[in-house]
Amino acid sequence: MNVLLIGSGGREHALAKALAASPLCDALFIAPGNPGTAACGTNLPLDIADHEAVAALCRREKIDFVVVGPEAPLVAGLVDDLEEQGFRCFGPRRTAAQLEGSKAFTREIGRDFGIPGAAFARFTEIEKAKAYLRERGAPIVIKADGLAAGKGVVVAATLAEAEAAAESMLGGGLGAAGAEILVEECLVGEEASVFALCDGIHAVLFGTAQDHKRAFDGDEGPNTGGMGAYSPAPLVTPALEEEIMARIIRPTLAGMRERGMPFLGILYAGLMLTAEGPKLIEYNVRFGDPEAEVLMPRLRSDLLSLMIAARDGALDTIRPSWSEEAALTVIMASRGYPGRVGRGSVIRGVEAAEALEGVSVYHAGTAQEGGELIAAGGRVLAVTATAPTIGEAQKRAYAGVAAIDWPEGFFRRDIGFRAIVRENA
Ligand code: AMP
Ligand code: GLY
Repeated sequence: MNVLLIGSGGREHALAKALAASPLCDALFIAPGNPGTAACGTNLPLDIADHEAVAALCRREKIDFVVVGPEAPLVAGLVDDLEEQGFRCFGPRRTAAQLEGSKAFTREIGRDFGIPGAAFARFTEIEKAKAYLRERGAPIVIKADGLAAGKGVVVAATLAEAEAAAESMLGGGLGAAGAEILVEECLVGEEASVFALCDGIHAVLFGTAQDHKRAFDGDEGPNTGGMGAYSPAPLVTPALEEEIMARIIRPTLAGMRERGMPFLGILYAGLMLTAEGPKLIEYNVRFGDPEAEVLMPRLRSDLLSLMIAARDGALDTIRPSWSEEAALTVIMASRGYPGRVGRGSVIRGVEAAEALEGVSVYHAGTAQEGGELIAAGGRVLAVTATAPTIGEAQKRAYAGVAAIDWPEGFFRRDIGFRAIVRENA
């Protein structure tokens, strides 16, 4: 088959490597891709927001299967537009992608189908929002309804902070994404991510992970897309996995089907493990980044076969198998991330890092210029290692980081610390 993967981040490099290894894959194209994906297939320049251009590329390259990596094209209906032209895709249609595209939509599905989650209210008017905030008190969570690239959530410790966040969002601070806000009960516990491969009817557990969203050591500093992750999530025991599938994932899938918007693709549940059991924080409708960089190295089954089964409603006949090993990834980011960053500093040593036992380096924001690998984004590399324990995987990943010569970058030195403390207890 000819396969097209849409996207250009570390997630797409990890997916590209797994897709290229599939016995079903004759040719892999990545659009637009990055220098890492270029080693897995053919990168093609493409404006992925131009759905007609994507369809034209599919015709030209005789694409048999399309895998959509990021959320924006899913929310914009790329799968609908390609499927209508006869191209089979992995990923949800526009209506089902609302599970990520609208936080209010997800909360209402959760309420209507009895899925455990935070109590919430929706507002478009600041005075009503403020009255509700005063009634509820802090701590409390304020969220923009729409996609806001990780900037749409404020966990407010004080009422003043909560009111300021509501004013800023409803005042247009995040553009259209904040035209409506949600005010949510603040859930307390440890967070974990659970992935489920879905074909509209059946859901199959597809790994667990935990990430570190804050920029600096000790989970301090500004929120980012993720500075590191590990898999599996040790807190998610087999019994808890079953509870999450039974109380959260399967009811969501059934509810979406009942609403006439069956969910196909990868459903990524962000959960709070509270004293009363697991509760849904949010859904994403795609693989996480950097979570894909710790899931893919552990997957033993053929990714492409699983994705085709998800597209074709055949997940009842197939089960993924996983390595017993753990994986841990450390993000190397440009100084200044998640704020403004420079471009063009030279990165050396990626090959030396990859020569180390168990280490893979995924490209996230790199470019090839004048024969050199350069930094071309906020998150630049994901240095991943597999090993029998998370502690061992951490040692290997940091040995990989040490092999990389990039003075303009920074990284956290404590990825996995909670899991490792537990492992050693
Ligand atoms: P999100 O953008 O929805 O992933 O939210 C970003 C982060 O905000 C989450 O990873 C949580 O740490 C936190 N968060 C979101 N909703 C809640 C909630 N209801 N209670 C506590 N923390 C939350
Ligand atoms: N790492 C968080 C995300 O992909 O949304």
